[in-house]
Amino acid sequence: MTQEEIRAEILRLTREYSKQAHAVSRPGALREDAFVPGETTVPYAARTFTEDEVCSAVDSMLEFWLTLGKNGEALERELAATLGNKRTLLVNSGSSANLLAFSALTSAKLPAERRIRPGDEVITCAAGFPTTVTPILQNGAVPVFLDNDPLTANADLAGLDEAYRPGKTKAVMMAHALGNPFDLATITAFCEKNGLWLIEDNCDALGSLYYTPGENGELSARPTGSFGDLSTQSFYPPHHLTLGEGGAVNIVRDMRLKLIVESMRDWGRDCWCPSGQDNTCNKRFGWQLGELPKGYDHKYTYSHLGYNLKPLDPQAAIGRVQLKRLDTFTAARIANWERLRAGLDDLAGFFDFSLPTHATAWTPEGFQWDDSGCRTAPSWFGFQMLVKPDAPFSHSDLARFLNARKIGTRMFFGGNLTRQPAFVQAKKDNPAAFRTVGALTGADRIMNAALFLGVYPGLTPDMIDYMIASVHDFVAEQTR
Ligand SMILES: Cc1ncc(COP(=O)(O)O)c(C=O)c1O
Repeated sequence: MTQEEIRAEILRLTREYSKQAHAVSRPGALREDAFVPGETTVPYAARTFTEDEVCSAVDSMLEFWLTLGKNGEALERELAATLGNKRTLLVNSGSSANLLAFSALTSAKLPAERRIRPGDEVITCAAGFPTTVTPILQNGAVPVFLDNDPLTANADLAGLDEAYRPGKTKAVMMAHALGNPFDLATITAFCEKNGLWLIEDNCDALGSLYYTPGENGELSARPTGSFGDLSTQSFYPPHHLTLGEGGAVNIVRDMRLKLIVESMRDWGRDCWCPSGQDNTCNKRFGWQLGELPKGYDHKYTYSHLGYNLKPLDPQAAIGRVQLKRLDTFTAARIANWERLRAGLDDLAGFFDFSLPTHATAWTPEGFQWDDSGCRTAPSWFGFQMLVKPDAPFSHSDLARFLNARKIGTRMFFGGNLTRQPAFVQAKKDNPAAFRTVGALTGADRIMNAALFLGVYPGLTPDMIDYMIASVHDFVAEQTR
């Protein structure tokens, strides 16, 4: 057999194998495995793929280039085009993406008045995932926590002016909560007015849209992750697309930031040659930088205190197939959310259901919207509900009940982060480590009462109906 024939045979067998071995990981619309209520696990999220992803990964492994190469370059281009951004740089996780995006804003290559220095303040919100916020502290800057609106799970912007300190505040960095875009019209106007950077943590929101009215009143949509200066993605399995581990930093407009993010991702080096290439700048031995001798090898010249946060090329090979599924995955997430919302509507006496930002109410015909003129179309990460304060049960009771029926749930990540041991310790070590705006009662409510169910694209209508029936059974049992 020739090399090409062997490769073709390996891929043919891989395809056959994967069809059998990974039947439960297929998109819901393609699943043929039998669903047995109470026996089949209904996770809150899971990697969703077919034999196409597996073949792409094996093909890349057979090539054995391993480090970022042709698949990485292609996926970076394709992601940037999908979001309408200037560039995308792949990294090894969403947390790394947040660390890099924030660290880039501390670079001495930026104008002095924009560069974030230790002690500068960054506006964020209290409830969410920790690594949206930890890069701020890791760089010696000060997070200023706004409260969260329990219904959207996003920052409550009523505290924005109180959070702002002229000369001290340098950036806003926050996440689109569970796929729900935060109020980008208000935040981008606030950042523009005050000369602040904006980092959108888009890790849970790839595929979400934000609509703004044009001069003629017509709405125009743009993806979240294309509004800030930088935005970030996670490709860990529960997320909208998966590469196993993985993430990305999106460079929305300013190519200065691309050079800085890339440098910090790649050991802090000044050189921007891709892996396996030399002398892209045509003066590899012609630079004089720092206190190095003139002509010192540019490949080993470091202009930042950097990291190595690169992913592997086989991960990007998987990602390229996943990205082609983004539209169908987004449609499935929205349809699953709607099915849950309609099926649980009669329990509105016990739960407050999430609303997209700018929506005022859900009806079977669609959402009602506020007067801002803006709208959102979340590609939901989960279906969040808050147990009402007077309900005769807690969110933990519900989680336990559903868990016994093999239905996965999650709380909204770290809840009120300021109550997490790491943040309590940071404050003990340094009372000025962070500031809070108001009493954070919304973030506490989320911590004490919120729970989310899955909407990931591997779910089938049968599974969702079982989730709906189980929540009804739970409420009936609790109120008997
Ligand atoms: C909003 C948000 N940001 C960042 C991350 C971190 O992503 P990763 O797990 O890839 O490090 C997560 C993880 O789920 C997240 O939910």
